[in-house]
Amino acid sequence: MTDTLRAYSSYFPSELHFGSGCRRLSADIIDRLCAPSPPRVFLVCSKSVFAQKPAQDLLESLGSRVAGTQIGVPHDPPLSCVDEIVAAACACNANAFLALGGGSVMDATKTAALLAAAPSPSPVAEYFRGQRPLPPRSLPLLALPTTAGTGAEITKNAVLTDVEKDIKGSIRSPAMVPAAALVDPDFTLALPARVTADSGMDALTQALESYVSTGASELSRGLAESAVNLLLRWLPQAYADGSHAEARLRVAEGSMLTALAFSQSGLGAVHGLAHPIGHALNLAHGLTCAVLLPHIMRWNYDCRREDWSRLGRACGLVDGAALLHAVETLAAELRVPQDFRELGLREEHFAYIVRNCRSGSMKANPRPLSDDEVLALLRKLAGL
Ligand SMILES: [Fe+2]
Repeated sequence: MTDTLRAYSSYFPSELHFGSGCRRLSADIIDRLCAPSPPRVFLVCSKSVFAQKPAQDLLESLGSRVAGTQIGVPHDPPLSCVDEIVAAACACNANAFLALGGGSVMDATKTAALLAAAPSPSPVAEYFRGQRPLPPRSLPLLALPTTAGTGAEITKNAVLTDVEKDIKGSIRSPAMVPAAALVDPDFTLALPARVTADSGMDALTQALESYVSTGASELSRGLAESAVNLLLRWLPQAYADGSHAEARLRVAEGSMLTALAFSQSGLGAVHGLAHPIGHALNLAHGLTCAVLLPHIMRWNYDCRREDWSRLGRACGLVDGAALLHAVETLAAELRVPQDFRELGLREEHFAYIVRNCRSGSMKANPRPLSDDEVLALLRKLAGL
């Protein structure tokens, strides 16, 4: 039986809106999500986004629905940040959450919305470390991403950092899928080129990993194929000219489709390795994925040769080798280094990375990697 003949389950937001200006639907959606109670929304927003006009317009349209705010969430949110949001939201009797920002804002808010639904929430560390079962449902969450890449507005997990145990890991539950997501590409118009490149390469990686993942289905493959097509075609333009409205819209759409795909299929070894490498070297997640992507595509190449060819042809390329070449060319154009030599990878990091790379993503990779094979790859990536 091929991978795509297996049974599968899907978890999507109940409402998904896409397009320039769709943020204006927020107030109505919040009213519906909270009905029959009057809305008391806790807003979590990234600092850089909060100051900009689209966010201020949104805030104005929400008016007295907003009961409390947290502006600013650290990258790779530490558990303490989630506890702060839960405490602040409970203190103002919030009955819904709105997340406006990139992946860190989404992940912290998704976790907070889940914990705040518990009658008396415990510290998030207890859930993160598996000492306590997750609450079965979440308070309603409306998610508005302001970058195009993580897909966290769609997915059922959140990546958090346990500073005390020095690990980055996920909390996951179908209850964490946001009740509604609004993907408005207008928020991405002001993103700096480096963020555009890193988040866009994260999206492309997720689409490519989803396509060949052991959890892929016909549903996820169709979505991933469209995503790869859009991202390969439009990411260079969005990077070169951030004010190009169509490029921004297409990249945001590609990113959304990617999330719909990988949230069903799982990912692969790029993501398995990117979490511990990114944590050890303090690198942006998208950049870490972008460096790893061509290496892992080559590793997986032979065992998914037909899939790569089919996907390459769907993108207007002659075969899978041309697809790999197109990915390498795009990474070079977006100034992604070919390895981690200049980014600080040293032999002293290897044991940590090997110890912490065995996530669900690693298990979904079509060609397994033993610890020795991970070590050989790390040596190559460090230039040793
Ligand atoms: Fe990712």
